[in-house]
Amino acid sequence: MNDPQILIVDLGSQYTEIIRRSLRYLGFHSIIVPPSEVLKWAKENNPKAIILSGGTINISDANAPEIPNEIINFEVPILGICLGMQWLAYMHDKDSIQAVQEGKSYGPVEVTLRHPMSKLFDGLPEKINAWSSHGDSVKNIPAGFNLTATSKDGSVLEAMENVEKKLYAVQFHPEVEQTEDENIILNNFVKNICGCVQDYDKKDVVEEIRANTKKILGEGRAIIGVSGGVDSTTLAAILAPALGDKLKAFMIDTGGMRKDEVQHVQAIAQKAGINLEVVYKYKNKFIENIGKTIDAEEKRDAFRKVYGEVFQEVAKNFGATHMLQGTLATDLIESGRAGGSALIKTHHNVNLDLGLTEITPLSDFFKFEVRELAREFGLEELVSGRQPFPGPGLYLRVVGVPVTAELLEIVREADHTVMEILKKHNVYNKIAQTIVALLGVNTVGVKGDGRVYGHSLVIRTVETVDFMTVKGFYLEPKICEEIISTLIKHPKIVRVFFDWTTKPPATTEFE
Ligand code: XMP
Repeated sequence: MNDPQILIVDLGSQYTEIIRRSLRYLGFHSIIVPPSEVLKWAKENNPKAIILSGGTINISDANAPEIPNEIINFEVPILGICLGMQWLAYMHDKDSIQAVQEGKSYGPVEVTLRHPMSKLFDGLPEKINAWSSHGDSVKNIPAGFNLTATSKDGSVLEAMENVEKKLYAVQFHPEVEQTEDENIILNNFVKNICGCVQDYDKKDVVEEIRANTKKILGEGRAIIGVSGGVDSTTLAAILAPALGDKLKAFMIDTGGMRKDEVQHVQAIAQKAGINLEVVYKYKNKFIENIGKTIDAEEKRDAFRKVYGEVFQEVAKNFGATHMLQGTLATDLIESGRAGGSALIKTHHNVNLDLGLTEITPLSDFFKFEVRELAREFGLEELVSGRQPFPGPGLYLRVVGVPVTAELLEIVREADHTVMEILKKHNVYNKIAQTIVALLGVNTVGVKGDGRVYGHSLVIRTVETVDFMTVKGFYLEPKICEEIISTLIKHPKIVRVFFDWTTKPPATTEFE
């Protein structure tokens, strides 16, 4: 693989990995580097393009990331996104930044691209819907720059450029899917403005994953926990033929799986050529330990501990030195392990610290890319058509009351019922993820002739490309009605809610 031509400077945004993902989608490799290493990397590698990511802090704060000023004089075009734009403005005029009035600007904005149209916006209509997420903004354009886009009747400055100095900047986030530019802005920047040539071909990925993993593993032996989800199953299928008897694939029956899941995953593994062992004996320990708390993070922590114990036992019996993980870029970002991004939630399989060397061959990838890999791998009907399911499973979906075997059984059955209804109405495959959760708030209902004081279920159906952001998938009323009328047949279910809140602010899971 060639050295990347594109350097992304990570200023701590949740979206930094999405910039890289979008560039890959456009056919370009890139590298993400923290501000402290930018100069060294740039001097050694001569990038053709530099992108400054967004970030969560204010540029004038004492703890703002220190980006070396020298990069402005490199003669390499720079695109500043959000905080990156504010930094470019601040470097040229310390008075150019102001706090957004009344807090943060968050959500969709209609951006007007100004004439003459910037090269950055070639091929776009005069108005585009874009995603904004910032606390500060640029209040006046520094000398030498042109204002190239605005929003809110010209009151918010959305883009600026200094063509002579090769500096370009946008306040909104062109990398996220809510910005309806079809990645044209990033493509214009790297291809037309910076002259980068496409250097990423998805076909090389499988061989790259195998070769890199073998290299890291050396003479060692590796274990891989297979959940039956796209990530771990695809990874195991890619690596099983390459690693042979140096690989032990196993599945844990955690007690939090969907209906008939263990058998289903066994069948998938067999078809995919994975020799899979199922570990059953820890099921009750999961329920007991997780059931001690109702706090979402403590539950995740309890899950992780038992999960780690099982891994340890399997690793010991197999004589493993390494552990393979299907961890994706999204998991790392939300666990606060990608660059400077903030912790949103603890993922069960990140940083398990089992004394084994972790290998995460998919950690640069996003969900839709792994699905593509699965497809290329002939796993089309086995994995890529299934909605994702989190490792801690149904434990996340009993909310507000301690998890018990009985409550798990209620959500398990409800989950199955809802999925069947969605499949019957041909919408299951259109939905990125469906979450069925039990809310621990009892409410009064009437069943038969008597009063009941029972549970509520919530159904959350979402659309997304990469789970970094999601929007609601609105179900037709007749489907909602069928779901409700079927679910309330359970003697202890009184109400059914639907949740179509976007992420952010809500995460996908209901936990
Ligand atoms: P959130 O709720 O973070 O979910 O927006 C994004 C995607 O990740 C899944 N998810 C997990 N997957 N272990 C997993 O394997 C976890 O701990 C976990 N938490 C969330 C979630 O189901 C969704 O697809």
